[in-house]
Amino acid sequence: MTALTLSTSSAATVRADAVVVGVAKGPKGVVVAPGAEAVEEAFGGKLAAVLENLGASGAEGEVTKLPAADGVKAPVVLAAGLGDAPEDGAYGHEALRRAAGSAARALTGTKKAAFALPVEDAAAAAAVGEGALLGAYTFTAFRSNGAAGKDAKARKNDAKSAPLAEATVLGGKPRDKEFKAAAERAQVLAAEINRARDLINTPSNALDPKQFAAEAQAAAKEFGLTVEVLDEKALKKGGYGGLLGVGQGSDAPPRLVRIAHTHPEAVKTLALVGKGITYDSGGISLKPAGHNETMKCDMSGAAAVFAAVVAAARLDVPVNVTGWLALAENMPSGSATRPGDVLTMYSGKTVEVLNTDAEGRLVLADALARACEEAPDAIVDVATLTGAMVLALGNRTFGIMANDDAFRTGIHEIAEEVGEQSWPMPLPAELRKGMDSPVADLANMGDRMGGGLVAGLFLKEFVGEGIPWAHLDIAGPAFHEGAPWGYTPKGGTGSAVRTLLRLAERTADGDLG
Ligand code: BES
Ligand code: MN
Ligand code: ZN
Repeated sequence: MTALTLSTSSAATVRADAVVVGVAKGPKGVVVAPGAEAVEEAFGGKLAAVLENLGASGAEGEVTKLPAADGVKAPVVLAAGLGDAPEDGAYGHEALRRAAGSAARALTGTKKAAFALPVEDAAAAAAVGEGALLGAYTFTAFRSNGAAGKDAKARKNDAKSAPLAEATVLGGKPRDKEFKAAAERAQVLAAEINRARDLINTPSNALDPKQFAAEAQAAAKEFGLTVEVLDEKALKKGGYGGLLGVGQGSDAPPRLVRIAHTHPEAVKTLALVGKGITYDSGGISLKPAGHNETMKCDMSGAAAVFAAVVAAARLDVPVNVTGWLALAENMPSGSATRPGDVLTMYSGKTVEVLNTDAEGRLVLADALARACEEAPDAIVDVATLTGAMVLALGNRTFGIMANDDAFRTGIHEIAEEVGEQSWPMPLPAELRKGMDSPVADLANMGDRMGGGLVAGLFLKEFVGEGIPWAHLDIAGPAFHEGAPWGYTPKGGTGSAVRTLLRLAERTADGDLG
C-alpha cells in the first residue's frame, strides 16, 4: 500500500515526482487553496489564470496536470478540484479527502507525490492522508500480468499502472504528537479499509467461509487479537439453525468467527456483527441474471466488521471490541433449504423460510443472539441486507435502524463526521405482523413495501433485552459499479469501516454505548 508521511518541506522545494495543489470555485473564477503559496509564487502569482486557460474550474473531482514552473522542484503540478470555495476559508475534511483521492488515482504510475492542500490541523492532515491512500487503491490480485517474472516491456507497463508509492502531506507539524497520531491513524485506517476492499473484490471461488475465517485467524495472529472459529460441526452442536440453514445448499460449509480486541483499561464492550454471505445466488429462490453478477459483495458487512476490529486493535483503542462474522454461501442444491422449511434458530425461535433469498437476516439472527449472550454495552450489525434500502437511499447512502433513538442519532452523526453518507430509518411496529407465520414463530419475509425496514424488524427479534442495537444496511454503498470518483474505486468500497472505528473510539471515551 501507499506509504504516508508528513513533511515540513515547502511545496516548491519538496523532493517529489508531483506536487498536488487544491483549487476551488470562487465567486470570480478559479482560486488556489491555501497550502500552495510557494507554488503560486513560482508561477508568478498566475497559477489560477494558467489553470483557467487550461479549462479548470475547481469543481469537485476535477484534476488538471501541468508542467511545473521554474522554482518548483517537482516536475509536475496537479491541481485537484475542491468544489465551491468556502466563504469562511475552512475547507471541509470530506472535500479534502475526495480531492486527495482523485489526485492519487490520477497519479497512478508515479512514485512520490507531495500534497500541498489546506491543512489547518491534524484532522485535516489525516483527511488528506486517508483520501490519498484510499484513492490510490488498486485490485490486481487476479490479473495474469501481476508483478512477478516479467520481461522488460511488461515490467514497464506494470510500473505505469502501479499505485502511487508514497504520499507526503505538507503543511502539518510532523513532530507534534497530535499530528503523528493522526497520521498513524490514517495509515492504519486506510490499510484496514483496503483490506476490506480486497476481501470484497476477491471472487467467491477464492473466498468461501472457510477461507474468510482463515484470513481472520491470520490477522488475529499478526495483530494480537483473540479469534475463535465455529465450523459446521460446532455450529450443529451449538444449534445455529440460521447459519446452517443458509449454508446447507453449498459445498462450502458455514462458519461463525468471533474476533476480539480486548484492552486492559477498557470499561466498555462494543459488539459488531457482520453479514458474511460469500456468494448470494438467492438459493432455491434463485436470483435472475442481472441480479447475481456482483453478489460476491454480499460479505461486505463482515469485511467491514473484521477491518474495524483489527483497526481498533492496531490503534490500541481502550475499549473491548468483539467482531462476529456470520459466514455462509447461499446456493441452490439438493441439500438446500426450501421455501416453506422451518429453521430453529440459535435463540430458540423458529423461522419459516418463505424466501431463501432473504438469507442475510437468518445468519445475522444467530450471530446477534450469540453476541448478546456476552451482554455488550452496545451492538451494531452491518449488512448488505436489502435491495429495498438501495431503492430508498441510492448507491452512496446506508440506512441506520435502531432500537434506541439516541444511539441511532449518535451513529448518524459519527458517520457524518467521518465522511460517510447515511440516513436514519424507522422501524414501524405495524410492519411486524406481516412476518406472522401460520407454522413458526415468524417468517423471514413480510410486506414488500418498506422491505428494508421489515428486515430490520426481523433482526430486532434476536437482540437481547435492554442492549442498545443499531443495524446498518449498506447494500447501496458497499460495492461501487460506476466509474471511480474521489477516493471511491470501482468494486468494494469499505463502507462503514470509518464509522465503526470512530464508534469504537467514542465508546472508549464513554460518549456512546
Ligand atoms: N444480498 C441481497 C441484498 C442486496 C441487493 C445486496 C442488492 C446488494 C445489492 C439480499 O440477500 C437479498 O437478496 N434481499 C432480498 C430480500 C427479499 C427476498 C425479502 C431483496 O432485497 O430483494
Ligand atoms: Mn439474498
Ligand atoms: Zn444477501
